[in-house]
Amino acid sequence: MKKALIFGITGQDGAYLAKYLIKKKYVVHGVIRRSSSFNTSRLDDIYEEPFKKNKKLILHYGDVIDSSSVFKLIEAIMPDEIYNLAAQSHVAVSFEIPEYTSNVDGIGTLRILEVIKSFLKRKKIKFYQAGTSEMFGGVQNIQDENTKFDPKSPYAASKVFAHSITKIYRDAYGIFAANGILFNHESPLRGETFVTKKIVKALTKIKLGKQKCLYLGNLYSKRDWGHAKDYVAAMWKILQAKKADDFVIATNRQFSIKQFINLVAKELKLKLNWRGKGINEIGFTSEGKVVIKISKKYFRPLDVNNLQGNYSKAKKILKWKPETSLAQLIKEMVNFELKNND
Ligand code: NAP
Ligand code: GDD
Repeated sequence: MKKALIFGITGQDGAYLAKYLIKKKYVVHGVIRRSSSFNTSRLDDIYEEPFKKNKKLILHYGDVIDSSSVFKLIEAIMPDEIYNLAAQSHVAVSFEIPEYTSNVDGIGTLRILEVIKSFLKRKKIKFYQAGTSEMFGGVQNIQDENTKFDPKSPYAASKVFAHSITKIYRDAYGIFAANGILFNHESPLRGETFVTKKIVKALTKIKLGKQKCLYLGNLYSKRDWGHAKDYVAAMWKILQAKKADDFVIATNRQFSIKQFINLVAKELKLKLNWRGKGINEIGFTSEGKVVIKISKKYFRPLDVNNLQGNYSKAKKILKWKPETSLAQLIKEMVNFELKNND
């Protein structure tokens, strides 16, 4: 049985990836951080008691900012594949804690690669780095593997470092180290402060009369949104390729935040109208109730306004393509919220 080690297993992608790999008969080891409250809820359906034998999912305490824990875990597990999904992954928050974000998202990657390098003679461990479309930042054209990076946040800058160091360790030491450059991907398990989940959750509550108003920032940035379950399949395919390489994973389609809101409202059969401009723009229902307002609090010092990928290389080499449309993704996210608001 193959062994995988996932840093960032408690996050959205970690949970989908763990389930995907278990289905593929892997034994999955995951790194969790000590927290004062439970942080493994996304793994509840695959959780196994620590004392159970022949477990498919084994959780370990660790942290990518703690070199010794990274070393000890890799030495003890000797996985076939490592997926580095660990990150302070919120772009806006990275402006508040830039040094911490760089330590986790940038140097964290280097810490793992150093350990893989030190064990090269013992085992050739494959490495996946969770790169991001945010690295393209200010680019105005459609983005693929040949597009130059132009990061616009401490988060994106740290991810550019992680991307580069992954490539350097591949070229310098022959490590099977690959970068995914994933565009935004969402799901019912998405963190609550990312815009899609925030919108779906709030509009569902508004529809049910449980919330009055939703406050948002920039409605006019555009994103290329896919489903997390499709994107974790791409991560696995990237590590099964003949040679380690870098791949854009996207849907090739782009929508603004405002379009996303309108699609969610449509799914909820909530009639939404718009009036005003800039900070004074509002969304209101046919009864005249103001349900969306703009708050300065949610604008970033710099924003990325145009993300749209081209996944041709992944299609050709990995035979990967997105399986879920934005409409299907929204339906699934809305149904999840409706169920949880019974
Ligand atoms: P997420 O839900 O925020 O999950 C991040 C994971 O990293 C969590 O398990 C978190 O643990 C863990 N983590 C944070 N700091 C850590 C540390 N110091 N040591 C060990 N683990 C740590 O993010 P996601 O959406 O699943 O994304 C997964 C990865 O893909 C991230 O690296 C993200 O930057 C990247 N990415 C995401 C997208 C997207 O659209 N979702 C697109 C491109 C790239 P806790 O639960 O304890 O906080
Ligand atoms: N979070 C948030 N909250 N974003 C808002 C809001 C709000 O209230 N109002 C408008 N936005 C805008 C942001 O300014 C941004 O332009 C866009 O919505 C998307 O924001 P997020 O959902 O926070 O995602 P992101 O694109 O910044 O980052 C996500 O995708 C990246 C891949 O491109 C994260 O998952 C990153 O980790 C990932 O790398």
